[in-house]
Amino acid sequence: MSEKLTKSAARNIFYGGTAFFLLLFIALSINTHLYIVNHSTDEATLTPSVAQGKRVWERHACINCHSLLGEGAYFAPEIGNVWVRYGGREHPEGARMGLKAWMRAQPTGVPGRRQMPQFNLTEQELDDLIDFLEWVSRIDTQGWPPNNAG
Ligand code: HEC
Repeated sequence: MSEKLTKSAARNIFYGGTAFFLLLFIALSINTHLYIVNHSTDEATLTPSVAQGKRVWERHACINCHSLLGEGAYFAPEIGNVWVRYGGREHPEGARMGLKAWMRAQPTGVPGRRQMPQFNLTEQELDDLIDFLEWVSRIDTQGWPPNNAG
């Protein structure tokens, strides 16, 4: 092997390295996509009301204050696990009633406390929204957030 790195050797390292990491990037992207589709998403329970609830969530820009699985604003609590926080796993009906009552009672007007606006959602919109929140809580986030308060 020669002592000096020749121009063509440098070029080959550059092209070889670029090709290698590009292929690695594509392979990892495919892997991530397949993981999302086959493992972390609970597709079997993705009902029309869940999709409708996601639209309610988007229409009212809840993400402007809340985060959903860590994405969004940090003004208000994380919502990805609010269903679990309200005890939905043990008492689904109680959690649904609790969430509805919460949404209807806003804003609380408690001095010094951050306020959530009143959205005047219909019964149907609330049910769809809660179906969406329940569905989100079943996404496999690999243990994130580390506690229910997150
Ligand atoms: C302007 C900011 C803002 C927007 C927009 C907003 N929220 Fe909130 N939300 C808050 C705040 C602040 C709290 C916490 C209030 C408190 O604890 O007194 C909260 C709390 C909640 C809670 C209770 C969380 C818990 O852990 O107890 C739920 C559920 C909720 N919001 C749902 C929604 C939904 C659904 C939307 C969209 C339709 C929405 N929020 C839009 C500010 C907002």
